[in-house]
Amino acid sequence: MYESPFVFSKIDKMFCAEHEAEYQQGKLQPFYYNPDKEIKLFHGDSLSILKKAPDTCIDMIFADPPYFGNQSGLVIKRNDGHADTFDTQKATWAYSKSINYQFEFHYTWLKEAQRILKKGATLWVTGTYHSIGVINVVLQDLGFKILNDIILHKRNAPPNFKGSCFRAVTETMLWAKKDSSGRTKFNYKTMKELNGGVQMKNIWEYWAEKNPFRHPATKQPIVLETAILAGNLN
Ligand SMILES: C[S@@+](CC[C@H](N)C(=O)[O-])C[C@H]1O[C@@H](n2cnc3c(N)ncnc32)[C@H](O)[C@@H]1O
Repeated sequence: MYESPFVFSKIDKMFCAEHEAEYQQGKLQPFYYNPDKEIKLFHGDSLSILKKAPDTCIDMIFADPPYFGNQSGLVIKRNDGHADTFDTQKATWAYSKSINYQFEFHYTWLKEAQRILKKGATLWVTGTYHSIGVINVVLQDLGFKILNDIILHKRNAPPNFKGSCFRAVTETMLWAKKDSSGRTKFNYKTMKELNGGVQMKNIWEYWAEKNPFRHPATKQPIVLETAILAGNLN
């Protein structure tokens, strides 16, 4: 995959300015606001925040929801230059849940996400084998049109610490359109140019940067940059 110099300068319209009054009525205040770059960040439970957003106002959604894959409460010790340890016991949201709970969780936020997307707009959602199957079914049940499953290959993913099965180096990212109506923008030429003049495939390979965060699911900016450049309506 290409190496991009693009540094998030285009995320400047996360929420629509014309609907600002409605957000205020709903008492939804950003915790970060940069008027120069028109960046607003909202922090909270997505299940309630999304409900306060107006219909059909969002150009693109990227989500990295919980995988519900932690069954052991494992404390992972790392020596690969990333965080020293990641205490999965603290991340209670990551604990495994019943299949019913998982369906309900993904159904609730994806239904709201679908409502607020503009006609023809798309959603990118990442997951591991723990979660992506449920998400795939829910997307189809809600009437999203799945455009691609993109394999994210992290070349320097950590090893399987126990040596009990294969080393997991990929995640899946589903790219889905709000529904089957409307025209979806795909910046085909830009993707081809970024990929050295060759049509870009649905396997994106990259090196994860070393980072001080304690969560191993941290997404690399290059993944979001590529998604934004590929499909943003603006
Ligand atoms: C798989 S991790 C994604 C980590 C992310 N890529 C990062 O670099 O921080 C799932 C994230 O979902 C968050 N989360 C879980 N339940 C949530 C909810 N109801 N609303 C908003 N965020 C939630 C967790 O706090 C966690 O940061």
